[in-house]
Amino acid sequence: MNELPPALARVLIPADSIRVRIGEIADQLAGDYVEEGGLYLIGILKGAFIFLADLTRKLTVPHVVDFMALSSYGKTTTSSGAVRIMMDLREPIEGRHVLIVEDIVDSGHTLSYLYRILKGRKPASLRTCVLLKKERDSLDVPIHYLGFEIPDVWVVGYGLDFADSFRTLPYIAELKPEVHQQP
Ligand code: IMP
Ligand code: MG
Repeated sequence: MNELPPALARVLIPADSIRVRIGEIADQLAGDYVEEGGLYLIGILKGAFIFLADLTRKLTVPHVVDFMALSSYGKTTTSSGAVRIMMDLREPIEGRHVLIVEDIVDSGHTLSYLYRILKGRKPASLRTCVLLKKERDSLDVPIHYLGFEIPDVWVVGYGLDFADSFRTLPYIAELKPEVHQQP
């Protein structure tokens, strides 16, 4: 067993479990979208880039990949509630079947903002696929496909970061509270 980096408390979801779950989600999507003919996947940067990369390669329905970059936190770990679009889509989504691919729902501000914005662009359908949802009170936003529910802790790895570190770990791990709860 490899040593955990000292900033990490424990592994919450090992790489194998992530891989298996993504296969299941891809199968579910293939069944749900077989009639639609095509899917427009929107990966939310930066956190969802690894999740999206693995999901897209397992997905057997025809699909296009696009990205948006949003920002809400800066370098802290508390949501300000103010979400900004840093980079928008390349194409209009009107009339298309759109799936938002997001890494994690914490307070829900990011996803509910995005859902509202994209709904206004009149896609044929709009659903969300989220790898992780924290077990805490969050804004009421639909999560149609969910990877895992996790405890309300700060997690890193598999695309998720703390101040842009730890994104390339193959597993999801809990960051030690003392690392991010600066006085
Ligand atoms: P929300 O708007 O509070 O739901 O937070 C969503 C965004 O904050 C996600 O897209 C992540 O980028 C980031 N985030 C929230 N919790 C975590 C975490 O535990 N680790 C890493 N990023 C997180
Ligand atoms: Mg994110």
